[in-house]
Amino acid sequence: MEVRLADCAGFCFGVKRAVDTVYEQLKNGKTIYTYGPIVHNEEVVKELSEKGVRVLENKEDLKQLKAGENIPTVIIRAHGVAKEIYDIMEANGLECIDATCPFVKKIHRIVELKSNEGYHVIVVGDPKHPEVEGIVGWCPGPVTVLETPEQAENFVKTEGEKLCIVSQTTYNYNKFQYIVEIFEKKGYNDSVVNTICNATEERQRSAKTIAADADVMIVIGGKHSSNSRKLYEICQRECEHTYFIQTLDDLHLDLPKAVRLVGITAGASTPNKLIEEVQNYVRINF
Ligand code: F3S
Repeated sequence: MEVRLADCAGFCFGVKRAVDTVYEQLKNGKTIYTYGPIVHNEEVVKELSEKGVRVLENKEDLKQLKAGENIPTVIIRAHGVAKEIYDIMEANGLECIDATCPFVKKIHRIVELKSNEGYHVIVVGDPKHPEVEGIVGWCPGPVTVLETPEQAENFVKTEGEKLCIVSQTTYNYNKFQYIVEIFEKKGYNDSVVNTICNATEERQRSAKTIAADADVMIVIGGKHSSNSRKLYEICQRECEHTYFIQTLDDLHLDLPKAVRLVGITAGASTPNKLIEEVQNYVRINF
């Protein structure tokens, strides 16, 4: 039996950069807060909490934090945040270390610019995802979040309005193209910027390739990680026996007979250590 790991699996550039930033700041002996968990991975967050890193769950938590004798350091995670969050930090005299992924930062710049130029911004993505909430928070003008092709079909723009369409970085590439086609047919394609991150596309493509060949597919990722859930959806379509696990403890493999190939992939917030553990476990036990 062969165990094959997808070419692109685990921490993406942006998440690795954000996690490294926290460890880097810890070296300075400061009191460190992250605005939201630094990654959607409970293991990593637990390890950091043991080192004293505290998590600010929301805006209210942040508002409570004021600079006293010590100036607290708040690290912004890769997903990014709304402009308002930076304003609160500045008003409270906090030190802000911005680990927003540069690809997300680029979306903030695009929507802020287009919104200021009078465009109605359309964000294709999950309205409850912090990255999307952050993007929305950079639009001073009208903004709509669309998650499904049906919502795109039903969207009607106001007479004379110009639209700027962007996507959540982790949105499914084919679905985004489909939504753009719907808008094109309506003549609503004034400005379309595909802001899906390559890391996501590559991860999705390599997971799909392996899942198409595999008898069993294992997707490792956090329960709340949208990109991991999307990987699971993609793999499940290609491979009937697809498992979604958060840690090795969740893996209860019921392997079908005559398994030739077990494929493994992992979401952007999954540390290498965990991927290796799962890989070794399958190699040793089956
Ligand atoms: Fe950045 Fe792409 Fe990762 S946007 S956080 S490198 S998935």
